[in-house]
Amino acid sequence: MDFSLTEEHIMIRDAARDFAQTELLPGVIERDNAQTFPDELVRKMGALGFMGIMVDPKYGGSGMDAISYVLIMEELSKIDASASVMVSVNNSLVCYGLEAFGTEEQKQKYLTKLASGESIGAFCLSEPEAGSDATSQKTTAIDKGDHYIINGTKNWITNGGRSDVYLVIAQTDREKGHKGINAFIVEKGTPGFDIGPKEDKLGIRGSDTHTLQFNDVKVPKENRIGEDGFGFKFAMKTLSGGRIGIAAQALGIASGAYELALKYSKERKAFGTEICNHQAIAFKLADMYTEIEAARMLVMKAAWDKDQGNNYDMSSAMAKLYASKVAMEQTVEAVQIHGGNGFVKEYHVERLMRDAKITQIYEGTSEIQKIVISRGVIKG
Ligand code: CAA
Repeated sequence: MDFSLTEEHIMIRDAARDFAQTELLPGVIERDNAQTFPDELVRKMGALGFMGIMVDPKYGGSGMDAISYVLIMEELSKIDASASVMVSVNNSLVCYGLEAFGTEEQKQKYLTKLASGESIGAFCLSEPEAGSDATSQKTTAIDKGDHYIINGTKNWITNGGRSDVYLVIAQTDREKGHKGINAFIVEKGTPGFDIGPKEDKLGIRGSDTHTLQFNDVKVPKENRIGEDGFGFKFAMKTLSGGRIGIAAQALGIASGAYELALKYSKERKAFGTEICNHQAIAFKLADMYTEIEAARMLVMKAAWDKDQGNNYDMSSAMAKLYASKVAMEQTVEAVQIHGGNGFVKEYHVERLMRDAKITQIYEGTSEIQKIVISRGVIKG
C-alpha cells in the first residue's frame, strides 16, 4: 500500500492549482453573481487537457488516469465549483460514455472534439418526473427504421445551453421497462430541439443549467449508443464514474473552505490572540481536517479502483456520499470560523457553502448512493 502521489501526479495537481489561482480566482465572485462562465476560460481548460483528462490521446484526450482526474477536480473546485462541474460532466459522463460504449465513427466524429475542449457535452437523463427514479423515463424515442423521433423534456441539464453534443436517454419501448431505454447523441441545432431558459440556482451559479425540449427531433440510427436497450445500463455505468468526479468536487469545496478558514483563523484576533489559539476554533480545525482527510481516502480509493479495473460502483457511491456530507458540514464550519465576514461574498466561504449543497443532490442524491451501497453490502 502506498499513499504517496507520483511526481507526475504532483505536477498535474500543481498545474491545476496554478490554473485555478491565476485564471479562475479572478472574477469568481462576479461570475457567481452574474451566473456566467466565459467561453474563453473553457477553451483554456481545454488547452490544458482538462476537458478530456482520461481520454486516449488518439481521440484528442490527455491519457491521464483517474487519480489525476480527481486531483484536477479538487484543485478547480477549491476555487470555482462552476468550472469543475463543467469539467466533470464533460469528462466522466460525456467523454467516458462515448469512449467506453460508442462506435469508432461516433468517437471520431464527436469524442475528439469533446476531449480537446473544441466542443462541450451534456448528459440528459433527469426529467420532471424521473430524477432519482431514473427508469421512469417519459421522453420517448420512436424507431422509424433508419432514424428515431424523440419527444419529451429533460430537466436540470448541466452545460445545457452551451453544449454542442447532448447524450439523451429516452424510452424506446415502454413494455420492456429499463430494457427498453436507449441513449442517443443529439447535436445542438437539430430541428425541434429547444433550449429553455437558464435556471436561477442557489449554488454553482456560473454553471449553465437548463431545461431542454424535444419536439419530433429526428436522430439518425447511427447516433444510438450501444445495442438496442442498452441505454439504462449506459447511464448507470457512466454515472458510477461521474460520481467519482462529483466526490472529488465535494472534496475540493470542503478543502477550499478549510484552507480559507485556517488562514483566517491565524490572522483574525479576538480576546488578545489569533482565534486559532482558542480551543473553540482549534477543535473545529481539527475536526475539519480529519473529516476532509477521511473523504480524501474514499475519493482516492474510488479513483484507484477505476484505474485498477476493479468494479467501482460501490466505492464511487461511498466517496460521493461521504465527501458531499463533509463538504456541506465543513463549509458551514468555515463560515462560522469567519464570523460576520463569512456571511460576506468577498471572503468566498459563503459561495463554497452554497456550492456544497448540490454535491448531495446531482449524479444521484445521498439517498440514492445509500441504495447503491446497501444493495452492494447485502449482495456481498
Ligand atoms: N452498472 C450496470 N448495470 C446497472 C448498474 C450499474 N452501476 N446499476 C443498475 N444496473 C442495472 C441493473 O442490474 C438492472 O439490470 P438487470 O435487470 O438486467 O439486472 C437495471 O440496471 C435496473 O437496475 P435496478 O433494478 O437497480 O433499477 P432501479 O429502478 O431500482 O434504480 C437506481 C436503480 C440506482 C436507483 C437508479 O435509478 C439511479 O441511480 N438513480 C439516480 C439517477 C441519477 O444518478 N441521476 C443523476 C442525473 S445525471 C446528473 O446529475 C448529471 C449532471 O448534469 C450533473
